[in-house]
Amino acid sequence: MADIEKKPFYITTPIYYPSGNPHIGHCYTTIACDCVARMKRMQGYDVMFLTGTDEHGQKIEKKAQEEGTTPKAYVDAIVENFKKLWARLGISYDRYVRTTDDYHIKTVQNIFEKLYKDGWIYKSEYKGKYCTPCESFWTESQLVDGKCPDCGRDVTDASEEAYFFKLSHFAPKLKELLLDEEKNFLNPKSRVNEMIHNFIDPGLQDLCVSRTSFTWGIPVTFDEKHIVYVWIDALTNYISAMGFMNDTYNDYEKYWPADMHVMAKEIVRFHSLIWPSILMALGEPLPKKVYGHGWITFGDGGKMSKSKGNVIDPFVLCDRYGVDALRFHLLREMVFGSDMPYSNEMMFNRYNADLANDLGNLVSRTVAMAIKYFDGTLPADKEFTDADTDLVSQLDALQPVVSEAFETCRFSDGLEAIFRVVARANKYIDENEPWKLAKDESAKPRLAAVLYNLLDAVRRVTILLTPVMPHTAPQIFEQIGAAEENTGWYDSEKKYLLPADVTVKKGPVLFPRIDVEKELEELAALAPKKEEAPSDLEPLKELTKYDNFAALDLRAVKVLECENVPKSDKLLKFKVDDGFGERQVLSGIAKYYKPEELIGKTLAMIVNLEPRKMMGFESNGMILSVKFGDGYRVIEFPDSVKPGSDIS
Ligand code: MSP
Repeated sequence: MADIEKKPFYITTPIYYPSGNPHIGHCYTTIACDCVARMKRMQGYDVMFLTGTDEHGQKIEKKAQEEGTTPKAYVDAIVENFKKLWARLGISYDRYVRTTDDYHIKTVQNIFEKLYKDGWIYKSEYKGKYCTPCESFWTESQLVDGKCPDCGRDVTDASEEAYFFKLSHFAPKLKELLLDEEKNFLNPKSRVNEMIHNFIDPGLQDLCVSRTSFTWGIPVTFDEKHIVYVWIDALTNYISAMGFMNDTYNDYEKYWPADMHVMAKEIVRFHSLIWPSILMALGEPLPKKVYGHGWITFGDGGKMSKSKGNVIDPFVLCDRYGVDALRFHLLREMVFGSDMPYSNEMMFNRYNADLANDLGNLVSRTVAMAIKYFDGTLPADKEFTDADTDLVSQLDALQPVVSEAFETCRFSDGLEAIFRVVARANKYIDENEPWKLAKDESAKPRLAAVLYNLLDAVRRVTILLTPVMPHTAPQIFEQIGAAEENTGWYDSEKKYLLPADVTVKKGPVLFPRIDVEKELEELAALAPKKEEAPSDLEPLKELTKYDNFAALDLRAVKVLECENVPKSDKLLKFKVDDGFGERQVLSGIAKYYKPEELIGKTLAMIVNLEPRKMMGFESNGMILSVKFGDGYRVIEFPDSVKPGSDIS
């Protein structure tokens, strides 16, 4: 173990709404945090990993009513399902907070009272647009097309007596916090711009923090017809669960401030504006980092949601392909900050390439050769040569790269780096041709060194894979004869920790290949049948010649600039990079996107349409988008797709 004292490390997931069962989207954030928590434990930190459920609010109250039960009984059942899923996924949380827990209620009431006494909370009247499913009030200017900017649903006029938190007071401090390069508080950086342009610069409004229109919540102690409204209740979990202002726990001094709050983009606003403001008002330290990842989307480009009936059952995926395959898939494919369309096919293809072919084969070939050529135990006499240097030096460099990637939520970068080295190790087999060395008795010491290098490479990469694949890693260690004391995080930096006469053990196939076609068919058969709905689709067009398609030049383009076209509520004006240069293009999607949301994105475009003038501006091409609900969504590629890449 390196020279790290048992320093505390505190990481949190959002507390999820138990308004429905957990789905693959919740799994992503929770697995991501679990990966960091496991790595930090391996690094010798004293880790506190908190997850939980956000159980109050009108939506839960309504759901319970619909089911003829009490809100508490309703959430109890769903919380059980969250816990079952986390157990299935190997989530190593240290504490589970429920906002209906007594200690949490105590903390929220104490905080509310303190903020009121200190003048940060005052009573007034709330008038606004309210979105019931999101439990959010919006100002007129925040609405998109008259609808809730988060979920696109209808909002209603609402007004009631309410308590307010003086959020507006904190605007300058929040801006300073977000722009502080050294603190690097909010990641990815694009979210900083979003917060500043969309919320701080237009003027932060004071925040409504109580409600009288429903009862399923924490009562305000000094005005019992009010209940504490959503964010003071929800955000406070991160400190109530550590014992702040309650007697149940006593870990606040030790773990607060949190090292990492992790969540998806839609609640970054609450964590990077409201939460720091509440803490500043309380005079408490601020969390160190907030990470806002993208969404797992499902076909229609929207955030996966229970209401759309498009959920993929994580239990089924774990049962069929293994927990670690699902963990690996989500962490490998989701590029931090970007959305990822969910695809079982993508999971199978990557599984076959990286796990079955590259890692699985590396382990099984190496172990099989050690058994075949040396009866499973390598001789002490080995001949290392310069031909080993490249592989070994790549392994030497890997640990810091992976640590840095994982602790900044760039799991796909970390995994990509690991699998580059796995590929290098496979290449090392081909370069050294052990089967030829085995034919020559005098080459035995060289053969032993080659196999030893391979076993040690497997040991070193498997250590770094442990937080992602905690169930498979011990099986690999067993096969290659690595003792537990040589599988700590920093042991991956040290070469040759296996005993000189290491003994391997043949084990079961780690990652059986997936027959993609067959599995896709079987999963499709398992999926719940959708009810037939009247189609609002355009009828299919007549057949056309292939050449008509081939004549179109479809490319990925990167949005450099985007702005509204004056006097048009439909058009956005873009400057895009098409790989060969910059061009201007217009698109009629202003109702569905704010310009800032599109800057930096990589989109699909027809680039060889003749120029057209719209509202006095020339448009060179057409940005492609897909009909979605009452609007359109652009077709988006991961950031790593190069502008100018051909779409076919
Ligand atoms: N209760 C609030 C959070 C309060 S935190 C103080 C809430 N709950 S939620 O159930 O809606 O969970 C939202 C979070 O779940 C997202 O921020 C993200 O972490 C995770 N995800 C839910 N659906 C997701 C996707 N489709 N994709 C990625 N993450 C998703 O908001």
